[in-house]
Amino acid sequence: MKALILSGGKGTRLRPLTYTGAKQLVPVANKPILWYGIEAIVAAGITNIGIIISPETGGEIQSQTGNGDRFGAKITYILQSEPAGLAHAVKIAQPFLQDSPFLMYLGDNLIESQLHDLLAKFLQKDLDALILLRKVDNPSSFGVATVDAQGKVLQLVEKPKNPASNLALVGVYLFSTAIHHAISNIQPSARGELEITDAIQFLLNNQKMVEAHQLEGWWLDTGKKDDLLAANHIILDSQLETDVKGEIDANSQIIGRVQIGTNSQIINSTIRGPAIIGENCYLENCFIGPYSSIGDRVTLIEADLEHSVILKNSKIVKIQQRIVDSVIGQRVQLTLAERRPKALRFMLGDDSQIELI
Ligand code: DAU
Repeated sequence: MKALILSGGKGTRLRPLTYTGAKQLVPVANKPILWYGIEAIVAAGITNIGIIISPETGGEIQSQTGNGDRFGAKITYILQSEPAGLAHAVKIAQPFLQDSPFLMYLGDNLIESQLHDLLAKFLQKDLDALILLRKVDNPSSFGVATVDAQGKVLQLVEKPKNPASNLALVGVYLFSTAIHHAISNIQPSARGELEITDAIQFLLNNQKMVEAHQLEGWWLDTGKKDDLLAANHIILDSQLETDVKGEIDANSQIIGRVQIGTNSQIINSTIRGPAIIGENCYLENCFIGPYSSIGDRVTLIEADLEHSVILKNSKIVKIQQRIVDSVIGQRVQLTLAERRPKALRFMLGDDSQIELI
């Protein structure tokens, strides 16, 4: 059994964060989204993993993630020259997959469930495809399944305008080698991509063994800001363990589950967990509220924030108002020059969003 993680694509939906980086490397609780997938796959006993990368962001993914040693896995990187669709990614991965069944995992998805049980079901029933479904409020943004009363899959449609159900395809799939034949028989969709949804429909049309499993636990497709904040909230809530390194002065208070990385300095500040602070950070006169993730080398002076994600190397100084529900990218500088500002001065990149509430 092998695994194929899809981490190519352009990631336009998380702009401006992903102008400079791969969306699969955006951190959730200070760990790249992609790494949660790798860890889940290894925990299910699969250690031979292929990762699809794009020419734009592949180098960064490769250098940060490495050859798999840190996960107890062997990682092979597979370059997809353009984001021509999920099924196209499988097609170019064929030399890696050979005649092995495989688990396919979309690198921007996070799911709560263990993969172990799914894998067992797939192997035990000798299926050609096992797909995961979950009820969602906005099915038009996903692949959508119609199932009968017994849960048998009848039809799959990619991002339908008028969805026939609220059951979305989750970005985790198990396939036998039959998927390769299916992929060679489909045509690009209206958006010009070879859709894995169409390939699974081909399997259904040809009476192959396709089953669906309904996911009960949470699932996050971290493509957008609110999803990213939700993922951060859930992971901090469910997985964060207290581990305080760095230097905390006598005037600071650490309350609840908090992680602080090495060489970070906390001066006259209160940190109320669950919250995580990376390495080499400097915090002075701050309040950091629950569900906050602060990346490495961040400086915060007289800052008050909660339920927010601050990426590495950013600096926030003397912003009087509480910062909430915010995602702040790498190397951002947010500073107040005067105590009572009469004007605001900005240098904002394309697609930045500022809301003064
Ligand atoms: O998240 C679940 C949804 O994922 C499913 O419900 C849909 O049926 C499925 O088509 C997919 O839809 P998205 O539009 O969300 O896929 P996206 O373009 O975001 O790509 C998902 C991942 O695969 C992401 O990590 C980028 C990567 N990718 C994407 C394409 C199009 C590749 O590696 N190569 C590609 O060619």
